[in-house]
Amino acid sequence: MKNLLSVCDIQKDVKNILELAEKIKANEIEDQPLKGKTLAMIFQKASTRTRVSFDVGMYQLGGRALFLSSNDLQMGRGESISDTAKVLSRFVDGIMIRAIEHSDVEELAKHSDVPVISGLTNLEHPCQVLADMLTIKEHLGGFKGKKLCFVGDCNNVSNSLLLICPMLEIDITIVGPEKYKPNKQIMDKAEKIASKNNSQITITSNLNEAINNADIVYTDVWVSMGDEKESSQRLKDFLPYQVNKTLMKKAKKNAIFMHCLPAIRGEEVTSDVIDGPQSVVFDEAENRLHAQKAILYYYLK
Ligand code: CP
Ligand code: NVA
Repeated sequence: MKNLLSVCDIQKDVKNILELAEKIKANEIEDQPLKGKTLAMIFQKASTRTRVSFDVGMYQLGGRALFLSSNDLQMGRGESISDTAKVLSRFVDGIMIRAIEHSDVEELAKHSDVPVISGLTNLEHPCQVLADMLTIKEHLGGFKGKKLCFVGDCNNVSNSLLLICPMLEIDITIVGPEKYKPNKQIMDKAEKIASKNNSQITITSNLNEAINNADIVYTDVWVSMGDEKESSQRLKDFLPYQVNKTLMKKAKKNAIFMHCLPAIRGEEVTSDVIDGPQSVVFDEAENRLHAQKAILYYYLK
């Protein structure tokens, strides 16, 4: 297990990593397990949670992190990804990267001698959904048979949810406008996992059907980083799929509301929901730290 580019890379270890995250959160691991270790963090896109939680996480585990904006690296002036990977491998113990293109992260991993961890690409956001699962366990007590309804765009976050939910026997429904469909390769992989684990995957545009009986209502922005050109069309297309109080009433009474953040209040979610009693978004954000410390421990120790 060298890299974490997709949720599929941790299919066999997902439960162990989550258990480790719980231990780390409860302060039940040895002191400074990553003493003397260094993590390079390459960012091609903006970030608040990912950047700060990886940096703080490395520090708390006894190591250190280096923030590298791709604009300031020679990579930004055309140095190849493969040379960058080979050079960084001589200096650091691991590389975290937030990239525009998933294929660039695969290229980096191919040429790196040290573990490469994705902090989001156009295709997936594996660290986010690990933190999400930790949050679900804390609030709902477990995974098996729970129903997660993702409302909105088929994006990096919903792709990673499509993969991780069936691994943990959570039934997942993605609901949004018909013209937005999940990535075909992700869907094929998710369906294989689901059929092995006897869990359900539903893709629909029927909001009432989708939300009925949901234990978890999850949404994300309608315009992800990189989709800005399609902004005005997307805002029109997704408007009927806003998560508001009326919609939340159709889910289970004790359903929780989740969002990876950043959120745009008034677009994909209303303030009364994201700031309301069912929302667990800040626990979810905090859990990025604990889940990623478990990932760092697993990959770098
Ligand atoms: N959820 C998430 O990845 O947030 P950032 O973009 O702030 O890192
Ligand atoms: N889907 C969003 C997630 C941000 C954390 C994006 O890619 O912009």
